[in-house]
Amino acid sequence: MIHQAVKSFSLLITTRTGVCFPDDAQTKLNTVLDTRLTAHQLSHPHDYLQLLSRTSIESVNEWNCIIPLLINGESYFFRDEEQFRLLRETILPTLLLQSPEQSTFTIWSAGCSTGEEVYSVAILLDQMSGNIGNKDIHIIGTDLNQQALEHAQQGKYNAWAFRTVDPVLRERYFTHDHDVWGLCPEIRQRVTFHQLNILHDPIPNYSLGLMNVDIILCRNVLLYFDRESTACVLGKLKKALSSRGVLITGHHDSANQAVDGLVPGPTPAILIHSEHSSRLVSQ
Ligand SMILES: C[S@@+](CC[C@H](N)C(=O)[O-])C[C@H]1O[C@@H](n2cnc3c(N)ncnc32)[C@H](O)[C@@H]1O
Repeated sequence: MIHQAVKSFSLLITTRTGVCFPDDAQTKLNTVLDTRLTAHQLSHPHDYLQLLSRTSIESVNEWNCIIPLLINGESYFFRDEEQFRLLRETILPTLLLQSPEQSTFTIWSAGCSTGEEVYSVAILLDQMSGNIGNKDIHIIGTDLNQQALEHAQQGKYNAWAFRTVDPVLRERYFTHDHDVWGLCPEIRQRVTFHQLNILHDPIPNYSLGLMNVDIILCRNVLLYFDRESTACVLGKLKKALSSRGVLITGHHDSANQAVDGLVPGPTPAILIHSEHSSRLVSQ
């Protein structure tokens, strides 16, 4: 494949998604570009890049086809034990207690991939149902990767997705058929999934209920973005947070970027509104 074509392909994906490709991803980009040219019976990369640049159903379908091939969707249940401990012991109890009775309490996993992260939070909430009172809890997972979202909706996983999970917890919430573990419908039905591009789609997003969000998890997503796209997404996520809200990133996600109005909470990757900083920092 012509080197310049691979570079243009890479740039187009970065512009669309925020995800940057290191030099050693060139072979993978080359292979995908080659395969997709053959699939569309196109002889020149330029025609394929044109197809991707259009606003047509064919273009949307093509993006849905290549995103899973090129963008890392790795996830597993209760990934990052320390953050889940803080959620269970500090963040959820504090925020739930402070949110008014009968109100909506929203948790959003932005970049949820195949659902392990957002279902882990749904399981946590199930375990602490005594603290929930009359709140109307909305748990929402969004991602760019449509295939990952379909997987998430099915709620079926192999053993590797539970690599750090206590088998007792897995037995409690999943049933297995040979090597496949299916999440029980009671938890599965508590989560809704939508396709959303956090770089370009509107955030806050009123039609998806992504405003006044109490907890946003955007973990292991922005580490693939450049500084400018990271800053843009962090700014948008901040606007979707409620005034009591907490933004949880992965340890390598925000590249030490400050977000106006948010300060580090119990750990540097957990950001909270400056006016509420005293609630969670000393836990
Ligand atoms: C490595 S996975 C992380 C999954 C989960 N948050 C976790 O930590 O286990 C990164 C996810 O971010 C998604 N992603 C990347 N760029 C995105 C964008 N612009 N909008 C929405 N999702 C995006 C990918 O599709 C992928 O599913």
